[in-house]
Amino acid sequence: MTAHIEAKKEDIAKTVIMPGDPLRAKFIAETYLENPRLVNQVRGMLAYTGTYKGKEITVMGSGMGMPSIGIYSYELYKEYDVENIIRVGTAGSYTKDLNLYDLLLVQKCYSESSFGRTQNGSEDIFKEANFALNFHIQETANELGKHLTIATIHSSDVFYKEQDNYEELYQKYGCLACEMESFALFHNASVLGKKAACILTISDSLVTGEETTSEERQQSFRNMMELALETTLKL
Ligand code: HPA
Repeated sequence: MTAHIEAKKEDIAKTVIMPGDPLRAKFIAETYLENPRLVNQVRGMLAYTGTYKGKEITVMGSGMGMPSIGIYSYELYKEYDVENIIRVGTAGSYTKDLNLYDLLLVQKCYSESSFGRTQNGSEDIFKEANFALNFHIQETANELGKHLTIATIHSSDVFYKEQDNYEELYQKYGCLACEMESFALFHNASVLGKKAACILTISDSLVTGEETTSEERQQSFRNMMELALETTLKL
């Protein structure tokens, strides 16, 4: 047990799939896992452990933003001996070249966040996903015939901005899209010698203002979920 997770150590698998929304974790567990059992409900941050095609995995919500995923990923890596966390989330597009529902594999994320500096004095403005995990995800996507865009993204601390500088971040750093969690997840993985990756579905566009409906999001989420789950079979 940790400050924020009530599960017993043996109830968390070595590989965790992490959507932002705990109800998505419930959906994934109930749709795809064999014999899922609820192992955490502290603060409603639902976690389920079960098997996918015989492989034990845990699915747990991260909450929104770096402080939240920072807490859960740290405790999972450090106290529960988790080796791999694959985040599955949504992102807003910074370019017309991406369409709604496109799948991104994050190679690198930029952030102006103070997370790294506050956590261990790191001044890095980029954090990288784990190379081996990304390799397995790409290979699995090829096998399943799913198209993946390998991307540098922006991990932001702020969703509602009075002034948005997305064009500058696209020009300057090549950020193709924005979400709010990867930077902290990748930082924690690197500090603790663990592995992290992030697969994203484009849910809205900052360029055109297009948005997806929640029903459509559910369907496209399945596409991403299947990629994450099939990848775990290689770990
Ligand atoms: N900004 C930040 N995070 C997001 C967005 C966005 O536009 N869309 C989905 N997650």
